[in-house]
Amino acid sequence: MNIQWDAEKYGSDFSFVQQYGGGVADLVDPVAGGTLLDLGCGNGALTALLRDRGFRVMGLEASPEQLALARRSWPDIPFFQGDAADFSLPEPVDAVFSNAVFHWIDAARQPDLLRCVHAALKPGGQFVFEFGGAGNNRLIHGALAETFARRGLPYRNPFYFPTVGEYAGRLEAAGFQVRYAVLFDRPTRLTGERGLEEWMDMFLKTPLSAFETEVERRAVLRETAEALREELFRDGAWYADYVRLRMKAIRL
Ligand code: BEZ
Repeated sequence: MNIQWDAEKYGSDFSFVQQYGGGVADLVDPVAGGTLLDLGCGNGALTALLRDRGFRVMGLEASPEQLALARRSWPDIPFFQGDAADFSLPEPVDAVFSNAVFHWIDAARQPDLLRCVHAALKPGGQFVFEFGGAGNNRLIHGALAETFARRGLPYRNPFYFPTVGEYAGRLEAAGFQVRYAVLFDRPTRLTGERGLEEWMDMFLKTPLSAFETEVERRAVLRETAEALREELFRDGAWYADYVRLRMKAIRL
């Protein structure tokens, strides 16, 4: 899925992506003098955090906007442009880390992603990641499907949100041993009275491209948010119904 990111807005209004990512980074065991690849590193905030924990880090990112921001923010860290499901490294690393990226990659390309990660890791290397798991944003996608249906349009959730069992099977088939896996609800507080509309506008560009005018798109966002108010607005704030799949595996 190719998205043109507003990298500054992503890093400010949606900074929870990096804040929550710190918990995933805690699963990476320190390796003295070790090397680490941050796969889909975004603005580089978590790459820098892992550098501060002693790794010699590098980041790979597809989005030119995010990459430019990462390079400006941490000029001493090497950041490369590339596709998480089609990359190779000159030398294998001790750890591959990734936060909030794999749900953007279609199910059909997940074996390519895991093949690239396997080839990028030393034997025994750590693969630590988190992304949207089964049930992620179920309420939001369900309400959007109903808004689309009222306009006679089909709705397709464009993301890949697997179960623990499905992803563990993929990892084992790709030559990894699963050491840790958890699927958990993480209701995520959004900023502002239009927080949910802004979240959908930022992250659901592919389905929303069905609407040609700004007026139509805004009406769809408003109507969908109102349909969700009872379930997702509480104590004066909007919450997105996130479900995370967090895993750690070792490359055999
Ligand atoms: C997520 O991090 O779960 C996510 C973010 C944007 C769109 C879809 C999923």
